[in-house]
Amino acid sequence: MNQPVMGGVAALNVPAYIKHNKLINWVADIAALTKPDAIYWCDGSEEEYDRLCAQMVEAGTMKRLNPEKRPNSYLACSDPSDVARVEDRTFICAATKEQAGPTNNWVDPNEMRQTLNGLFDGCMAGRTMYVVPFSMGPLGSPIAHVGVELSDSPYVAVNMRIMTRMGKAVYDVLGSDGDIVPCVHSVGMPLQAGQQDVRWPCNSTKYIVHYPETREIWSFGSGYGGNALLGKKCFALRIASNMGYQDAQQGGPGWLAEHMLILGVESPQGDKKYVAAAFPSACGKTNFAMLIPPAGFEGWKVTTIGDDIAWIKPGADGKLYAINPEAGYFGVAPGTNEKTNPNCMASLRENVIFTNVALTDDGDVWWEGMTKEPPAHLIDWLGNDWTPASGTKAAHPNARFTVAATRNPVIDPAWDDPTGVPISAFIFGGRRSTTVPLVTEARNWTEGVYMAATMGSETTAAAAGQMGIVRRDPYAMLPFIGYNMSDYFQHWLDLGKKVAAKNPQALPKIFCVNWFRTDDQGKFVWPGYGDNMRVLKWILDRSQGQAGGVEHMFGTTPTYGDLNWTGIDFTTEQFDRITSIDKDAWREELKLHTELFDKLAYRLPQELVATKQQLEKRLAE
Ligand code: OXD
Ligand code: MN
Repeated sequence: MNQPVMGGVAALNVPAYIKHNKLINWVADIAALTKPDAIYWCDGSEEEYDRLCAQMVEAGTMKRLNPEKRPNSYLACSDPSDVARVEDRTFICAATKEQAGPTNNWVDPNEMRQTLNGLFDGCMAGRTMYVVPFSMGPLGSPIAHVGVELSDSPYVAVNMRIMTRMGKAVYDVLGSDGDIVPCVHSVGMPLQAGQQDVRWPCNSTKYIVHYPETREIWSFGSGYGGNALLGKKCFALRIASNMGYQDAQQGGPGWLAEHMLILGVESPQGDKKYVAAAFPSACGKTNFAMLIPPAGFEGWKVTTIGDDIAWIKPGADGKLYAINPEAGYFGVAPGTNEKTNPNCMASLRENVIFTNVALTDDGDVWWEGMTKEPPAHLIDWLGNDWTPASGTKAAHPNARFTVAATRNPVIDPAWDDPTGVPISAFIFGGRRSTTVPLVTEARNWTEGVYMAATMGSETTAAAAGQMGIVRRDPYAMLPFIGYNMSDYFQHWLDLGKKVAAKNPQALPKIFCVNWFRTDDQGKFVWPGYGDNMRVLKWILDRSQGQAGGVEHMFGTTPTYGDLNWTGIDFTTEQFDRITSIDKDAWREELKLHTELFDKLAYRLPQELVATKQQLEKRLAE
């Protein structure tokens, strides 16, 4: 052990294997500010994970589930006020407001630092500060980046061990001067001497703050999901998207950090292709990433690289290569079942942390949609007795599971490959009950960027706020772009040009899908889940110039005869219902594109404005 720091501040007790002085000094500075009772350096071992979980069981934060039903698994239930990402409390504190852009909350970084200094002063009193070293991406990969999260939540420490490559080995990669994204997190509830803790400490004041210039993350007041597991949305999307953009600004090739799943598809002949797909939160990314091909696709295999985030960089051959920076899934539990996602259910058999699901009488978990018939009695996520007659949800709609990617029975063999996998197609999909057809291929890269940029989606429970209203969610990245959205669009246009200049064949095709169109009764027309393979196959064929389709004003859509219908009873009428283009609806839709473009007018790429004008012209024909 190195020399402990004395004098009212918790002893640093730096493990001898840590040689990074800048890191040690930063930890000392944050400890001096936040004043924890103790500092604990996580090593990422299984023994440590088990010990911290046992401590949380003791403290009442987690319950151990029945080891026969759900081995080595836990249930945590949060404070009812702390159940989702808080987008209205999320800030991109770039040097200027223009750099953050009109879609991000912005406060002058100096002012924000003053506010946060006040809030963090003494905020860890009575608690332990955990030092959590983690790598986003395979350890030591040239694409990976390292972060260290200082958190007063042991729940964060154990979740980070599942969600990232967390532990001692990160220090080997860092050496004495490796780059770190510093992340500071506090639940914001200091304890006075002798004060009894609560099950889920948090604070009604919340701040999720990013300083892109210094690549720092500061999070206060929430212990939940993306607010607290800072490697995920804060680092792997907001900070990383900015890093990828800055790389291009500084003369590098530039790269992308996207809200995308990555999956592999292998044909019966062994031909393997990868696609990356962006959907807003809670729109079935995990289901798509673990899809089981339906009848009619015997011999086809779909495998998962990632279910939520992709980092994408041009490789030496000019192709775009993607890695999953995460090592686990923090997925939405409600709606997941043996029919919708059997691979996910298999992933959840053991070694899982569940949050805000219901507890069964035999010590297992349940959530809405898990079984057709709900159990006769449960303890709901709020800790109350629950029966089917209760008229409330037993699990919170944004209840989650945290599980290691390696538990997934269809994990792709290349999921941990440091070079990543080559992407053949990008897919963008919103949740739209009307207007947007089942699948459309963009005519070219620019029109694809336009499609992704103007995506709309009905809101879900993943973020606090009103549900079910259509909001523009460009690239499914509205809450996650760490810089000006207009510059982000330009970055995509520029990257496409660079890839095409080097090797036009390497440029992935862009598609837009919508699984969510409804009939007059409000029921989904498209069966979704495994049957999405029918669309995926068309997408892959089109990417290789091998499938038919009809061109319309927005791009190319398959005719009924272009999809494989073996094993499903889906009529041409149903197909027409979800592929038809209602010109009136599109006129209204384009007004919303105009609204978005008006908001983003400053530095909006002219190519996108021109694309909209062409669309309007075609619509008027
Ligand atoms: C998530 C989200 O948790 O998008 O992945 O909200
Ligand atoms: Mn997500």
